[in-house]
Amino acid sequence: MSIAEQEPDVARGAGAAALPVPGTGDPLIEVTGLCVDYGLGEGAVHAVVDADLTLRRGEVLGLAGESGSGKSTLAYAITRLLRSPGVITGGQVLFHQRELPTVSLLAAGEQELRGLRWNQIAVVLQSAMNALNPVLRIEAQLTDVLLAHRPDMSKSARHARAAELLELVDIPADRLGGYPHELSGGMRQRVMIAVALALDPQVVIMDEPTTALDVVTQREILEELMRLRDKLGFAVLFITHDLSLLVEIADSIAVMYAGRLVERAAAREIFRAPRHPYSLGLLNSFPALHGPRRFMEGIPGSPPDLRHPPAGCPFHPRCGYVFGKCRTENPPLLKLSTRSAACWLQDGARQAPAELARRADAGPEARSPEPEARSPEPEVHSPEPEARSPEPEVHSPEAEVRSHD
Ligand SMILES: Nc1ncnc2c1ncn2[C@@H]1O[C@H](COP(=O)(O)OP(=O)(O)OP(=O)(O)O)[C@@H](O)[C@H]1O
Ligand code: SF4
Ligand SMILES: [Mg+2]
Repeated sequence: MSIAEQEPDVARGAGAAALPVPGTGDPLIEVTGLCVDYGLGEGAVHAVVDADLTLRRGEVLGLAGESGSGKSTLAYAITRLLRSPGVITGGQVLFHQRELPTVSLLAAGEQELRGLRWNQIAVVLQSAMNALNPVLRIEAQLTDVLLAHRPDMSKSARHARAAELLELVDIPADRLGGYPHELSGGMRQRVMIAVALALDPQVVIMDEPTTALDVVTQREILEELMRLRDKLGFAVLFITHDLSLLVEIADSIAVMYAGRLVERAAAREIFRAPRHPYSLGLLNSFPALHGPRRFMEGIPGSPPDLRHPPAGCPFHPRCGYVFGKCRTENPPLLKLSTRSAACWLQDGARQAPAELARRADAGPEARSPEPEARSPEPEVHSPEPEARSPEPEVHSPEAEVRSHD
């Protein structure tokens, strides 16, 4: 069985019941209409286009997409860690603090940002495990952040906290005196997670935190992370190219393609019933470990040049369901009942093919259609009962959509 074919909540710890029901907690970070370019003018790379995203208190929100889809850029922009030539050209990012005024992260000054980083919002950057200083002991790297943000803390209190943090991520405290090269890759990544948790933040943003690790270590770290989330209650924005991994650990998932968010839904909904052909393609790109052998389809073609994205739907040159309108009009993110998708197949004007119209409570075996079962023409309607009504989920798209153009 592939990760994607297991139940999404296998990694949950016992403490999860104390947290808000996923997707129902108060908004913690609210991103609206965020646009980020690299460079200016004609040659600018439109790395993030009109992104709307809400991370709720205690939630694990997964952000998936192929390499170059804009995931890291979105995270850097939210946390104001974007470096030149990156430019935020529009939008708003609000951080709703508990019992404190809401902060507009894009308008905040450096001092205000310094107060929020690590304290409230911690970031584990891509390849973070290689970011440990090779000539400093683990303790120094853990106490560094305490020294900077808790200057009143005594040396012995810092030492005690460093030991506590290391044990929190299942590394014996006697490793405090060691150097990074004495730790395995998995242990180094755990140290980075410990550093991120040092000040008990409300949000942890993790950019591909386990990509460089083997699958066994990856699983151990993710289980660890979920256990800590359940215990401490922080929210996680978890970035990866591996949608099947997110299906297992995330409460909700946002899928990015060519700088745009193309689908957002509860993890279980995406896993069982994707609405966007790109999400379906990503899910079908991962092999099952059990069951009959199946031809892996992958997604044909390559992501577009973000300086000159194709007209219409940016996914249309690679989409097996493309039809006339897709080539000329860019679909907005259509608000469906509990989710949203940027695809003309979901606008209520036509019947979506069965594999993009099934209900989320359909069995997992229904998720991955054999290649021949995939309808190349969206106009060929599905015989499935839930697909008969063309508008079962569409709630006034005109009123709810945000234009991507
Ligand atoms: N410094 C830069 N200058 C110009 N373009 C950039 C720069 N950094 C990123 N880009 C472009 O912005 C787009 C988004 O990049 P980003 O790193 O955010 O993607 P990603 O989804 O995180 O990819 P990956 O999975 O490989 O980490 C890509 O097309 C990339 O080439
Ligand atoms: S809008 Fe058209 S091209 Fe784009 S994903 Fe939907 S069917 Fe495919
Ligand atoms: Mg990245």
